[in-house]
Amino acid sequence: MVFRTEIGKDISRAKQLLDNEEIVAIPTETVYGLAANAFSEIAINKVYKAKNRPSSNPLIVHVGNKEAIYELASEVNIKAELLIEKFMPGPLTILLPKSQLVPEIVTSGLPHIAIRMPAHTVALELLNSLNYPLAAPSANPFGYISPTTANHVFCQMKSKIPYILDGGHCKAGIESTIIGFKNNIPVLHRMGSITVEEIEQIVGEVVLNSEHKVTMAPGNLEKHYSPRTPVILSIDLSEIIDKFSDKYIGLITYDSYCPDLPEVQQIMLGKSTNLYEIAHNLYAAMHKMDLSGFDFIVIKKLPDEGIGKSINDRLNRASKS
Ligand code: TXA
Ligand code: MG
Repeated sequence: MVFRTEIGKDISRAKQLLDNEEIVAIPTETVYGLAANAFSEIAINKVYKAKNRPSSNPLIVHVGNKEAIYELASEVNIKAELLIEKFMPGPLTILLPKSQLVPEIVTSGLPHIAIRMPAHTVALELLNSLNYPLAAPSANPFGYISPTTANHVFCQMKSKIPYILDGGHCKAGIESTIIGFKNNIPVLHRMGSITVEEIEQIVGEVVLNSEHKVTMAPGNLEKHYSPRTPVILSIDLSEIIDKFSDKYIGLITYDSYCPDLPEVQQIMLGKSTNLYEIAHNLYAAMHKMDLSGFDFIVIKKLPDEGIGKSINDRLNRASKS
């Protein structure tokens, strides 16, 4: 099906389409999602198809209130309860054993469901107007960078979906942190907008998911979150610029322009002391650079601390060839 994709702010229009098992792009505080009725196999299949994503990769289910979490999960352990109380609504996704309400196609047959309650007024108003939760991966083609504005979604998904609900530029700008549990120990499945340190303050030590089954989940693939233009992650910008002096380089910087390149070839993300501002602006800069015809996008690695770790994780994956 080919759609004349519309962008608008009409929550009831989004609800009407979702009620009819159509898919709609929705804003969240992290990135835009491609949403479908989580209880409708027909709608979920449309998500996989529009995203060109293998159906072996499960979808996060979004809820509008905390009670819904307890209906979708068959069991909520004490640490999960603490995380729900502290971080939801917010950019945290938790993996819990799924209840019988959840169709297999949403979790790709896995016994756990990924659940999150977005901290975005438009998303919450929409979710609370529906009598089902919304399964939603990021609203980008498989492997590409996530969209943080309605226009990013339009550029990537136009004609594949009927409607984009515009909720402005996503505040956090990178995806949610995903936490599961093994023998009641919290396990990190994806770094994201909430730091591991913040989670450890609430539930104690968090371990990495090195032996977990879903390491092939798209967000964990080595190459993911990538623009089409090759990305070079660098520690020494001048060295790279020198080495590729015959190439047309786009440079993503932080506090100031680099004197070695024309300013029109550069985007500043913000002060390197304010990593949240950098996360907020990062994907928008990559989308813009990707449309500018550069041979390479060069970006400098951030200090590996706090949310800088999550940003570096995305930069590392974007730069894998
Ligand atoms: O911030 C976010 O999390 C955004 C917004 C739209 O909510 N969503 C998002 O979805 O990033 P997606 O599909 O692009 O990434 C979700 C990740 C994938 O790596 C997926 O494999 C994993 O979560 N995931 C989903 N359900 C899972 C499950 N049941 N078990 C393990 N991993 C799961
Ligand atoms: Mg994604």
